[in-house]
Amino acid sequence: MAKIHMPYGSLEGQTAHIAEYIADVIRAHGHQAETVDLKHNTGRLPDGQDGVIVAASVHMGKHEGFVADFVRENRTELDQVPSALVSVSLAAHGDEANAESQVKQFEEETGWHPRHVAMFGGALLYTRYNFLKRQLMKKIVKDKGSQDLDTSRDYIYTEWDGVKHFTEDFLARLANPANPS
Ligand SMILES: Cc1cc2nc3c(=O)[nH]c(=O)nc-3n(C[C@H](O)[C@H](O)[C@H](O)COP(=O)(O)O)c2cc1C
Repeated sequence: MAKIHMPYGSLEGQTAHIAEYIADVIRAHGHQAETVDLKHNTGRLPDGQDGVIVAASVHMGKHEGFVADFVRENRTELDQVPSALVSVSLAAHGDEANAESQVKQFEEETGWHPRHVAMFGGALLYTRYNFLKRQLMKKIVKDKGSQDLDTSRDYIYTEWDGVKHFTEDFLARLANPANPS
């Protein structure tokens, strides 16, 4: 049974949902998974992990600063175990180049170059934003040419099948590190 540690950053909650979903998939395969909200728990990566999946979301072009701090503080340990970065953003839904450049910036900022990176669409939670954030997000989305402008509802872009697939691939690589797939 493998032990997977899953530190994450999430400002509005979608990355937290994704991290919990990944943890459920890991547990359904008979392994241990522990999610840790870095907003409340920074510090050291615990010893004895068989794998680490770091998840973070993008706001104003950047992943959470507290996730970057965590990665910088634990870079040596992260390089010693199979690890992956999960990046959650609106760009990951239809603007791959932008999503990739946000990941590249995170890698440059932290010096961590995870072997595995997954980019998942996040959520546009109009009903949960305050007035200013709602207007800001509507403008950004409109400027991108999207039709998702009805602020009386939310839009969820996460493709859960893709998240499951990524998790199962990660587990398969843990079981067989020689397999580069
Ligand atoms: C104020 C704000 C700024 C955002 N800026 C970006 C951005 O620059 N690029 C992007 O791809 N997504 C951006 N997003 C979309 C978020 O990445 C998306 O809503 C994600 O689901 C947030 O994850 P979280 O709920 O875990 O915080 C922004 C969202 C908000 C509310």
